[in-house]
Amino acid sequence: MSTIVVVGTQWGDEGKGKIVDYLASQADVVARYQGGSNAGHTVVADGNTYKLHLLPSGILYSGCTCIIGNDVVLDPVVLLQELSALEATGKSWDGLRISNRAHVVMPYHKVFDGLQERLKGTGKVGTTGRGIGPCYADAADRIGIRVVSWMDKEAFAEELKNALAYKNRILEAFGEKPFDFDTIYNEYCGYADKLRPYVCDTGALVSELIAQDKKILFEGAQAAMLDLSHGTYPFVTSSHPTAGAVCVGLGIGPKHIQKVVGVVKAYGTRVGEGPFPTELLDETGNRIREIAHEYGATTGRPRRCGWLDLSVVRYAVQLNGLDCIALTRLDILDTFPEIKVCVGYRYNGEVMKEFPASLKVLGAVEPIYETLPGWMQSTTECKTYDELPENCKKYVERIGEVAGAPVGIVSVGPERDKTITRMKMF
Ligand code: GDP
Ligand code: IMO
Ligand code: MG
Repeated sequence: MSTIVVVGTQWGDEGKGKIVDYLASQADVVARYQGGSNAGHTVVADGNTYKLHLLPSGILYSGCTCIIGNDVVLDPVVLLQELSALEATGKSWDGLRISNRAHVVMPYHKVFDGLQERLKGTGKVGTTGRGIGPCYADAADRIGIRVVSWMDKEAFAEELKNALAYKNRILEAFGEKPFDFDTIYNEYCGYADKLRPYVCDTGALVSELIAQDKKILFEGAQAAMLDLSHGTYPFVTSSHPTAGAVCVGLGIGPKHIQKVVGVVKAYGTRVGEGPFPTELLDETGNRIREIAHEYGATTGRPRRCGWLDLSVVRYAVQLNGLDCIALTRLDILDTFPEIKVCVGYRYNGEVMKEFPASLKVLGAVEPIYETLPGWMQSTTECKTYDELPENCKKYVERIGEVAGAPVGIVSVGPERDKTITRMKMF
């Protein structure tokens, strides 16, 4: 058995898609264990740019089994669009497998997502509007519809009727249009017919693949600071992006997790609301956004930008038990004469030992910065770690030191060949 979990360590968009696609060249299986179409994972390969929302980032390799696990919330509309886009580039997806226990994102989940955001007013989360929170809430409320029921026309009719009887009353109370049973039923039965060949018990499948000693990647979406339990609640997503969720999200035991790789972007970004201590609301922040083209892969929203926050990364090391870091987008900093990095927080004059649970505190901390000299030369053509400029290596080493996990992969461009590996992965 050989398994690696790849997780985001900040607020998402660290480059998980790129790292998973890169590692997938050596893997037999890539499995998503949480999240849904709120994810936007970019993979640049064969001269094309693929934006993956639900498909695991191993889908571009023809021999790779790609699993959508039980704790992923599945939006069939998005999945079918993604498959069509893939088909247009001549790719196939024979290796796709969808969990029969995953919950289905229904059209009313997206309406509730928007409605709840409106009702929260200034307290809104800034969600992606993909119906993620309402779908997970229905799962917990035991009124969700799972793939296994959706695939069975009778069970689907009964569960959809029950769900609509409940949901439509709430929608009407808020002045929203109720949903028509026949319209959703017919539309979703059509989607079910298209996806039925790929549905199976993915928990049993993953266990079998582990027993066959396959090389498996577990692909996280979102990131530690968006984790429902450990992130900047309530400005989080509704699932658990941290490594512990792999077991529940795929139906395997904890002994099957061998290595955990945390993806760290060389600076910080955040989409949506909530505190972001190292945010730069000045020219430097704008400069990062423009050089890096930091606009959301799912919603197109401009991402908030700032310096790298190692308090956040250190916390992600603790939450995930990271074995190593994959440091991405280092090339974005090539033209900055000085680079700041936050190594801790000060609050009420005291250096904080733990990552604050209170948003009031997190919103008021003073980041403790170290200023490192930039390297002022391009790194994108560097093929080995030694070829990187001295100041660049110093930045990398400082990150590993303060975060408490070694930097095992360095990425200097979006393409596969712009990746420097310093540690054996599989
Ligand atoms: P994910 O959600 O974590 O998969 O990340 P996104 O795909 O949302 O955002 C990461 C962006 O950075 C994408 O546009 C990637 O193509 C790009 N990217 C990844 N690694 C690198 C890198 O090392 N350098 C540069 N310049 N871009 C990168
Ligand atoms: P990837 O996998 C960045 C953010 C949203 C919002 C909060 C809740 O590409 O890294 P949701 O729609 O999940 O209820 O929104 O979480 N968010 C992300 N931010 N990258 C993502 O995914 C995100 N998925 C959700 O912006 O603040
Ligand atoms: Mg993304």
